[in-house]
Order: sequence, then structure tokens, then C-alpha cells
Amino acid sequence: MPILDWLNKNEAVRTVAKVPYRLLEPVADLSYGDPASENMLIQGDNLEALKSLIPLYAGRVKCIYIDPPYNTKSAFEHYDDNLEHSKWLSLMYPRLELLRELLSEDGVIFVNLDENEHSYQKVMMDEIFGRKNYLGDLIWKKRKGGGNDSRFFALDHDYIIVFTKNANKEIHPAKWRVSQTEEYLKRYKEKDEDGRRYYWDTLARDGLQNPILIELDCPDGDKITINSQKSLSTVLDGSKNGEVRFKKIKGKWAVHHKVYMPAGQVLRSVLDGVGTNKTANDEQELLFGDNPFDYPKPENLLQTIIELVTKPGDLVLDSFLGSGTTCAVAHKMGRRYIGIEMGEHAVTHCAPRLKKVVDGEQGGISEAVNWQGGGGFRFYRLGETVFDENGNINPSIGFGALAAHIWFMETRTPLEKKPDSPLLGVLRGTAYYLLYNGILGDRRPKGGNVLTGAVLESLPPHNGPKIIYGEATRFGQARLEAEGITFKQTPYDVRAL
Ligand SMILES: C[S@@+](CC[C@H](N)C(=O)[O-])C[C@H]1O[C@@H](n2cnc3c(N)ncnc32)[C@H](O)[C@@H]1O
Repeated sequence: MPILDWLNKNEAVRTVAKVPYRLLEPVADLSYGDPASENMLIQGDNLEALKSLIPLYAGRVKCIYIDPPYNTKSAFEHYDDNLEHSKWLSLMYPRLELLRELLSEDGVIFVNLDENEHSYQKVMMDEIFGRKNYLGDLIWKKRKGGGNDSRFFALDHDYIIVFTKNANKEIHPAKWRVSQTEEYLKRYKEKDEDGRRYYWDTLARDGLQNPILIELDCPDGDKITINSQKSLSTVLDGSKNGEVRFKKIKGKWAVHHKVYMPAGQVLRSVLDGVGTNKTANDEQELLFGDNPFDYPKPENLLQTIIELVTKPGDLVLDSFLGSGTTCAVAHKMGRRYIGIEMGEHAVTHCAPRLKKVVDGEQGGISEAVNWQGGGGFRFYRLGETVFDENGNINPSIGFGALAAHIWFMETRTPLEKKPDSPLLGVLRGTAYYLLYNGILGDRRPKGGNVLTGAVLESLPPHNGPKIIYGEATRFGQARLEAEGITFKQTPYDVRAL
């Protein structure tokens, strides 16, 4: 397969392995709402932040939307968009590798760009995600009306490159459907008590195939003959149960019936009517009183994307968060989310925006999804590195963080929950244990970190192979074999990912 090359690509390909593995530190003052909420807002460079998420969320994220700097060669207030071409490619390569690792097998990634880097990004993603997993490009119509650019033609659209982790038909069996485009919501503007959307369509029409002429009694006793496709009894039943109505328009009776919104129309590749740059600017002004961002995205665009590939409770990720649109929309749609933003606006805009959402903010898609408020999010910053420059474990690392790291290193799956004993879990018949920093109750740093007969007795039992991490073992090889134990020594056998 032909692949893309650029200056210093070799270095970009090696970047992920070299990125320090940091812990995420919660910041209570900037977090808000339900303390049990898993939603994360992380301030920091997304390369390090994504790496720190791997042990916790690898293979778990259902939908990734990113809207990275477009490389438009103009100075932006919030980030340096003037990265030269190679630097831009080197910025994206390792981040996309990590994003791919975080995606679930049926997960989908959407990358929003303009013509500056779109084609290069597509070829790079062929290499990282596999060409067969390319689902296509969506074209987002980002403005309406006749703006004039100083280019050969006025640019009305962005590209959204769409890849999945595994395009296997069994994993993605159905077509993607959308139901809530602006156009649809405008047309199906009435709502039943159970929330189903519909509009009133007239029953009498010219040009029907096989029309049925029926005579009806109007509420005031007038008679009306209509050219319908429904039989008299269906119309009379409908009139009784509210599916058909009589309405006097300009002195004449008309008969209407309800037409319900279909489960969804198949997604068209051109996303028109899901909000524009102008809609997004208006949303920002409503939220913040001004719009300090250059290219925020409208909530309706994110709603369309998230609705396509996720269900309530699924995990959504945006690692170039900007003003926080993806998280705000995911929150209102009942999805879990992780947002990463390195700028100070993570504190000044993203966190306040999400607080407003928790408090029931009514802009953007709130009315369409009947958003009433609730939930919460936790704010994080990047903390200490797990390993020092010589590869030794940082002595201040706690049991939970090291446990998550070792479990992921051994099994390539994230640890479900923080273990409350040295047993981290059992996978495919093998049990994994970690003896570290007093987990056995001895709070002295080294207490219980050595595998002895007494320590083995106190461990949760497992009938099968055991992998035990500890500082040292008092057992010889014969005893280890007899007990079915593979002993691994901290810190030497613990590797950075
Ligand atoms: C075009 S904006 C995203 C706009 C966003 N979709 C919205 O609706 O507001 C790109 C954002 O990515 C952030 N960014 C750029 N490089 C980053 C990095 N290495 N790590 C984290 N954030 C980064 C910038 O600070 C900027 O806020």
C-alpha cells in the first residue's frame, strides 16, 4: 500500500513509545455535579493525556470526534495554527495511533478538517486504521449565503473523514440513519403526548393513485367530499382517535391526517441543515456573552454525529475540545464523555460551559433533546510520571495507578475497577497479583511487598496459573513452579507502554 512520507516521519512513528506515562490528577474545585460521574474534562497536551487514558479506556470508546487545528497558516489566539506541513503531520500521527487504541472494535472516528490537510490526513489514516476501514467523507456545509473568500471559489464546506476500527459487516450491519436534522424537525413540528413527532398533512389531494372519493360530515354539519387514499371507515376511526382532524381554513373545511416522523432517513454524505459556523458563533455568544473562538462547531452537527454511532451510556471522546461542544452535546444526550483541551480555556470556558449544562442550560440542542439538567463531570490535569527517566517506578505512585498499568501491560485490556486486594483480576484462567506499598495492610512502604509463605497464604486463592508482581520472592524456582507462580519483579519487569 502506498504510504505518506514527510520530514522526520521516523521520529513521529516512534513518538508514542517515548511519551511519558502520567497519572491524571483530579481537581476538585473545577469539577461539578454528581461526584460519581465518570465524565472527564482533562486540561493538558492530548499526546500525554491520551497515553494516560490507555490503561483505563483502551478499546472502550465508541465515538471519537476531533477538530484539530486546520493548519491554515494564520495566527490564532488560542493555539499556534501556523505549524508547517511536516510538523502538522508529526503532530497528528502519534495522536491518531493512540486514538485508534482507545476506539472499541465497533467504534468510529470523525476527523473534521478543511482542504489544507484533508487529503494528507486521509492517507495517514489509511496507514494507521487500514484502508478497508475507511467509511467515507462527510461534507459539512458550514455556511449559508454568499460569503466571498479571497480564493478561486468560495469555500462553503469542511470535510469530516470517517474511519472505523473494524469495518466488518457483522460489526456494522445497518445503514446509519438520522432523524433530527433541522429540516426534519421543522417539518415534523408537532409532538404527541408520548413525544412522537408528526405533522398534519391534508387528506384531500389531486393526483393520487387509486383515489377513493368519500363524503364526510364536518363538525358544523357541512358535507365535504374528499379525494383520499384512506377508506371512509379509516378516516372516521382516525377522527375519533385524534389521527384525523377537520380544520376550517379561510371559511372552507379541510381534512388532515397525522404523518409521523420515520425512524430516520439514511444519512446523506452532505450534512446540510445541521447548523453552520454562524449557528456555532451564536451559541457561543449566548453561552459566554461573546465568541472568543475561531471555529467552534454547532451543537446540532455534533448531535448528528453522536446519534449515528452511539447509544445512551456509550463513551464519546474529543481530544481537541476547543470550547467544549462535543462534551456539552454528549452530556445532553446521556452519553459518557472525555474531553481534552490544552489551552487555559479548558478552565475559563469548557468547565463553565459544562457547569451550565449540568444546571440545565437551554441553548443549542437542549430543546430538541428535552434537556433538563443533571449529572456532572470531573476536571483533571496531568500529574506525575509513573516512571523516571531511568525507567524506575516513581516511588510516590499509588497502588491503584500501578495496578491499572500492570493489568493493561499484561492483558491489553483496561482494569474494570480499582482492586481492594493484591488480586487485580483473572483473565483466561490466569490470575494477576501485585504486592505493592502496603496493600496487605502494612502501611510501611515496603510492608507486604515481598512474596513469602505467609504472604502467599494471605492472598485471595486461585486454582490455576498465577502471575505475581513484587519486590522480591523468598521462593526458589522449584517452589514457584509447584505453586504455579510466575514471579515478576518490580520495578524491573514493569515496562512503560
Ligand atoms: C478548532 S478548535 C476545536 C473547536 C471545537 N470543535 C469547538 O466546537 O469548540 C481546536 C482546539 O484544539 C486545541 N489543541 C490544539 N493542539 C492541542 C493539543 N496538542 N492538545 C490539546 N488540545 C489541543 C486548541 O487549543 C483548540 O482549542
